[in-house]
Amino acid sequence: MKIIRKKAEISAEIQLLKAAGKKIGFVPTMGALHDGHKALVERCVAENDVCIVSVFVNPTQFNNVADLEKYPRSLERDAEMLQKAGCKLIFSPEADEIYASNELTEQFEFDFNGLDTVMEGKFRPGHFNGVVQIVSKLFQLVQPDNAYFGEKDFQQLAIIHHMVKALNFDINIIDCPIVREPSGLAMSSRNERLTADQRKNAVEISKVLFESRNFAAQMNPNELILWVVDKINKVPGLEVEYYEIVNSSTLQSVDSWSESAVGCIAVFCGEVRLIDNIRYNS
Ligand code: PAJ
Repeated sequence: MKIIRKKAEISAEIQLLKAAGKKIGFVPTMGALHDGHKALVERCVAENDVCIVSVFVNPTQFNNVADLEKYPRSLERDAEMLQKAGCKLIFSPEADEIYASNELTEQFEFDFNGLDTVMEGKFRPGHFNGVVQIVSKLFQLVQPDNAYFGEKDFQQLAIIHHMVKALNFDINIIDCPIVREPSGLAMSSRNERLTADQRKNAVEISKVLFESRNFAAQMNPNELILWVVDKINKVPGLEVEYYEIVNSSTLQSVDSWSESAVGCIAVFCGEVRLIDNIRYNS
């Protein structure tokens, strides 16, 4: 397995693979890999001739410097896991290999068609500008046939689908289901930062979301939002930042259950910000 750090080197590898007619699968990540990432990688290995994984903690998608600094980094361990999973090539550049210095200070502009004004986009201004900026750069370099993304980051996935259409990328985006710990907690690189007590509290997030499905017949979406927020805020150490029930394609709030609805949540568990989501009627 190769770890490539330079753009020119990855481009040369891609040229060889394309010339040999290989089907390229790609999984973009920020490292600190867990079983959620592993599921994407295993699917990518199974469905393509080569699986390329990028490991890059993208500075332009962090709107909080402390969060960027605290983001866990573990390339050696990641590489071991990726090799076992059958990945042949890791692309892990430094920030200055990817970005010109002005790109690190000026916001990347993109027309999100309203997908960025809700939920994560509302509470993390500029976050999705950075995501589209890096994913579009990586797509141009890697030129994959298939690219794999997790439904854990539901809004990100909707935005990637929009980006691929808007920028005319000839790439299949493969949606992969959320991988959870046996307790139900959605796997996340941020879970590493939870203490044992915080982890116990965090488990309540998915428990309440799953329980809320049983009430969808009795309550309208707005009532259910209030129920979920109240129930989670009553758990010690948890504080809901937002809970929204939205149309799974437009990400706009739904008033009734007639649309395909997904509930998306962000919760502070101490200082650690966790996200999760659940589908109601699709
Ligand atoms: P990262 O958080 O490392 O996630 C990489 C991919 O793994 C994303 O598509 C994410 O949705 C998926 N993933 C993470 N946890 C998952 C889980 N529990 N179940 C299923 N899939 C899961 O998302 C990013 O990185 C970045 O924004 C990136 C797209 C790489 C751009 O920098």
